[in-house]
Amino acid sequence: MPSISVFGAQWGDEGKGKIIDRMAIDADCVVRYQGGANAGHTVVVGGDRYVLHLIPSGILHAGKVNVIGNGVAVDPLKLIEEIDGLIERGTPVDGKNLRLSAGAHVIFEHHRRIDQLSERWRGDGRIGTTGRGIGPCYADKAARAGLRVTDLLDADVLRRRLTAILAEKNALIERVHGESPVDLDEQLASYASAGDRLRPFVGDTGAEVRRAYRAGKRVLFEGAQGVMLDIDAGTYPYVTSSNTGVAGVAAGASFPPSQLDGAIGIAKAYCTRVGEGPFPSELEGAKADELRAAGHEYGATTGRPRRAGWFDAVAVRYALELGGAEGWVMTKLDVLAGLGDIEVGVAYRHGGERFTEYPSHLSAIDEVEVEWRSLPGWAEDVSGVRDFAALPENARSYVEWVEKEVGVPIVMLSVGPERDAVISRGL
Ligand code: GDP
Ligand code: IMO
Ligand code: MG
Repeated sequence: MPSISVFGAQWGDEGKGKIIDRMAIDADCVVRYQGGANAGHTVVVGGDRYVLHLIPSGILHAGKVNVIGNGVAVDPLKLIEEIDGLIERGTPVDGKNLRLSAGAHVIFEHHRRIDQLSERWRGDGRIGTTGRGIGPCYADKAARAGLRVTDLLDADVLRRRLTAILAEKNALIERVHGESPVDLDEQLASYASAGDRLRPFVGDTGAEVRRAYRAGKRVLFEGAQGVMLDIDAGTYPYVTSSNTGVAGVAAGASFPPSQLDGAIGIAKAYCTRVGEGPFPSELEGAKADELRAAGHEYGATTGRPRRAGWFDAVAVRYALELGGAEGWVMTKLDVLAGLGDIEVGVAYRHGGERFTEYPSHLSAIDEVEVEWRSLPGWAEDVSGVRDFAALPENARSYVEWVEKEVGVPIVMLSVGPERDAVISRGL
C-alpha cells in the first residue's frame, strides 16, 4: 500500500516506534501528524536503544525522508536536543532526511509552565499530563493565539507576536497562579536562535509529501498516543489534545483522505495506561506489578510507572473500527510468558446493560465492570520465534482467539524490542 496510517489502538505506548521503524524498511517517507514531545517512541536496533519524541521513527534508516507535519506541536528546543542527540550517536540528521512543517505550532516556555500550573490547580482532578505544554499549545492554536514555525524565522514577527501573547500569559501565570512571569527577552533570544538552527529543515511539508506520493513513493503516517487518548474518541477529559488516529492524518499532514490507502492499528497483547483516567481492564496489586515488571512498563518520556491490565477487546475493537483498520499488529506477546492464565476483557457491564461495543456515550466509563474470559497461558520464552507455527500451542490459541474476538486480522506479531523480533502474518 503506497500510503498507510499506523496508529495506536489503546492508551499509547503500544510499541508504535518499534513497528514503524520495522515498517519503514519498505517505506520512503515517515510522517508525524499530531502530538508533540509528549510521545516517546522506542526503537531498538542492534542493541542500541533510541527514544524519539518529535522525530519520526524512520530516522534510523538511511535514505528515508522523515517529516514533522503541520499538526504536530513542536517544541523547537526539544527538537534541537533530539537532532543533536542522534548526530552524536552517529545518525546523520539534515534538511534532507528531516523536514519540519512551517505551519506546525510552536511550544514555548509559557505553554509548559501553564500545563504544569493547570495540573496543580486541578488537584485530584488532574489529567496526569506529561507537562510538555501540549494542551496549552493546541488550545492557543484553536484560539488563534499561537505562533507557527514560520514565525520563528522572522525576528520582527516573532518579537511582535510573542510580546503581545506573553503579556496575557504572564498575567495568568502571575495573577491566577501566583508564580513568577516568563522572561520575554530570554524567550525571544532562545527562540530566534532555535529558528535559525532549524531553518534548513523547514518547508511546506504537506506539498512535499503529496508530491512524493504522486511520484509513487510509499508514505507511512506515524501516530502518537492512541485512539483511547484521542480528544474526540477517547476517554475525555483524560485524553491528549489532538486527533491521534486516522482522522488526524488529513489535517495534521495536509494529506487528502481519499489518497490514504490503508490503516493499521497497534495494540499490546495486554494493556497499559500512564496518567489518570478510566482504564476498565486495569489490574491492581501483585498481578499488576508482575505484568509491569515483565513488560518494563515505565514511561519512555517521563519515566512514570505505567498502569497495567489485561487486553481489552472492547476498546481495541472500537479503535480499529474508528480507524477503518484492515489489520493490526499485536505487540509484546513475549511478555505474557510465565504469567499463568491470561484474562481478556470481552464486554462491559453498566447499569444493567451489557456492552460489546465501546459505550462512548457513557460519561462514567470508569464505572463499567468488565466481563472476562480466561485463557491458558504458556511458560516458554517466545522472543526468538519468527514463525507463527513455532509458537507454543497456547500462545497460538491466545492470538487466534483474540483476533476472532476483535474481528480484525492480526497482520504481524511483535515478540521483542528489536527491529527483527516479529512474526509476519501478512505484513
Ligand atoms: P510507543 O510509544 O508506542 O512507541 O511505545 P513505547 O516505546 O513508549 O513503549 C513500548 C516499549 O516496549 C518500548 O520499551 C519498546 O522497546 C518495547 N517493545 C516494543 N515492542 C516490544 C515487544 O514486542 N516485546 C517487548 N518485550 N518489548 C517491546
Ligand atoms: P506515545 O506516543 C502514553 C497521556 C498522558 C496523560 C494524557 C495527556 O509514546 O504513545 P498530554 O501531555 O498529552 O497533555 O497528556 O495523555 N499521554 C501518553 N500516554 N503514551 C503517550 O505517547 C502519551 N502522550 C500523552 O500521560 O494521561
Ligand atoms: Mg511511548
